[in-house]
Amino acid sequence: MNVSDAVSTRKSIRAFTDTPVSTEVLATLLEKAARAPSGGNVQPWRVYVINGEAMTRFKAVLQEKRAPEPAAYAIYPDGLKDPYRSARFQVGEQMYALLGIPREDKPARLRRLAENFNFFGAPASIFCFVDRQMGPPQWSDLGMFLQTFMLLATEAGLGTCAQEAWANRAETVSEFVGADPELMLFCGVAIGEPDISAPVNTLVSERFAVEQFATFL
Ligand SMILES: Cc1cc2nc3c(=O)[nH]c(=O)nc-3n(C[C@H](O)[C@H](O)[C@H](O)COP(=O)(O)O)c2cc1C
Repeated sequence: MNVSDAVSTRKSIRAFTDTPVSTEVLATLLEKAARAPSGGNVQPWRVYVINGEAMTRFKAVLQEKRAPEPAAYAIYPDGLKDPYRSARFQVGEQMYALLGIPREDKPARLRRLAENFNFFGAPASIFCFVDRQMGPPQWSDLGMFLQTFMLLATEAGLGTCAQEAWANRAETVSEFVGADPELMLFCGVAIGEPDISAPVNTLVSERFAVEQFATFL
């Protein structure tokens, strides 16, 4: 698989099989992903891996701790502008259509949202943190690490879904992994074998045309 193939075939996977993921494979992916660039080579990503028995324990904790928690950060800005707002709306509608959940069925939409906290059934995950001292440049570095990791996972035949939904369970995640209080959770990544029979995994999200986001002078 070349880089273009990895970029074009990676997509968010939101239904997984039970097939376990090897911790060695995850370690290799992390080692390779650490070649991602970062300003000043500070490598600000800090990662916790939850797999196998740890995943079983974490899911038990999640069952117990269901109370709302303060969000680690605002996932979207208040009053998200267009065209960003419309793009967000559109992908949500496409996803719910594939799941057969109509707009009016708010309880079903909420139940589906809560599937984030079951990693959509994925057997493995990583949680990405960044030191609270860091600012937008280092958050951007973390994003590069994240995409590099997801592309490498694609090459290894694994499906992924980055999940900033975990910002709403940051306390539970941080406590479970024993993260230093100086570290702030950015997102989780659900990892596993894609369930190819699940309609939700057929979603191919749209993109703005180049002329909508790039200006050639
Ligand atoms: C940092 C980040 C966080 C995300 N958080 C979530 C999430 O919490 N739940 C979810 O279902 N998808 C999440 N996504 C997936 C996006 O919705 C998805 O990347 C976008 O719609 C484009 O689709 P694609 O990944 O299939 O190309 C996240 C993606 C990124 C990059």
